[in-house]
Amino acid sequence: MSELPATSRPEQSDPVSVIFRLVWGYTTSAITHTAFELGLPDLLETGPRSADDLAEEAGAHGPSLHRLLRAMAALGITRETGNADFALTEAGALLGSKGAGSMDALARLLVHESMWRPWQGLTESVRTGEPVFESQFGMDYWAYMKQHPDVSDLFNAAMGDASQAVGTAVAAAYDLTRFRTVVDVGGGNGTLLAALLQATPGLRGIVFDSPPGVAQAEDHLVAAGVGDRCEAKAGDFLEALPEGGDLYVFKSVIHDWDDERATTILRNCRRVLPADGRLLIVEPVVPEAVTVSPADPFPYLNDLNMMVSLRGKERTRSEYEALLTAAGFRLCDIQPVPGPERVFLIEATPNP
Ligand SMILES: C[S@@+](CC[C@H](N)C(=O)[O-])C[C@H]1O[C@@H](n2cnc3c(N)ncnc32)[C@H](O)[C@@H]1O
Repeated sequence: MSELPATSRPEQSDPVSVIFRLVWGYTTSAITHTAFELGLPDLLETGPRSADDLAEEAGAHGPSLHRLLRAMAALGITRETGNADFALTEAGALLGSKGAGSMDALARLLVHESMWRPWQGLTESVRTGEPVFESQFGMDYWAYMKQHPDVSDLFNAAMGDASQAVGTAVAAAYDLTRFRTVVDVGGGNGTLLAALLQATPGLRGIVFDSPPGVAQAEDHLVAAGVGDRCEAKAGDFLEALPEGGDLYVFKSVIHDWDDERATTILRNCRRVLPADGRLLIVEPVVPEAVTVSPADPFPYLNDLNMMVSLRGKERTRSEYEALLTAAGFRLCDIQPVPGPERVFLIEATPNP
């Protein structure tokens, strides 16, 4: 069948298309999940290949794999080359594990059972106000990570994928040269800290996380060439934070927690932060009202993600201000971090 000319294609924003995209959203996650299960992004990283050739290596049924690759092409992940081979597009290449800017771990995590199953229980979370993850898996999210080291490793790598570009953008947007030691609280494998230290010669750092969270940090920091300027420390930020920093950074941490526990974590930071120190929270900030429709859905989807899996939420500017005040801080500034991650820098100082 010949392709419809661009002008006679249905408008993507017509009401019927909006509904189809809405109710069939899960199909694109399933396609991506299967592509990973079969190892397709990595198999295609070396160049174009035919469905039959790929089927042999991936252990798949050739004609069915052809249909999957065709659907991936329709979604912009692969493209058909002239001789019926399939190649990764520029976007598809980000799903490979070896290429520059790889989002392999992040994408794998987002289509992993530990992420999509809670979304199937969204109704229960909205009805009860409880993270459905806990009834589905019989434990809270962080206990699950502790009991599943393979998923924890994937989680840490995924957070690293998400933090690489943000770290570089934060270092470009925020003057780090006035600080001596930055503590990256809940800093996972140290990707953000490494980017901050790489951009700021002379700055020292501590990455602080739970034992499973910080497990890969030392290796990562050494590989990033900043091992001699930092250390990895394990602990519980609900109990205490390490002393010694004049800048404490929390990226994608505060939104994991409800107001009560977020306040506890920030109070623990207040206890160790010197009077002239700074607190930097890196998170999405939800607009006070959804004034544009359709709005950028990302913060709202992430907010529901916090609802189904954790006891956290995305917050508005006034909610951050209230949280910071309750924890003994004064909000100084909120500015967007340039980049597709759509996060903000929320800067605060200790209230005397
Ligand atoms: C969403 S991840 C963010 C990781 C990293 N900051 C980033 O953005 O790439 C939240 C982090 O909080 C850590 N965490 C959770 N509970 C913790 C606790 N009680 N004490 C210390 N770290 C904890 C997790 O291990 C995880 O690395």
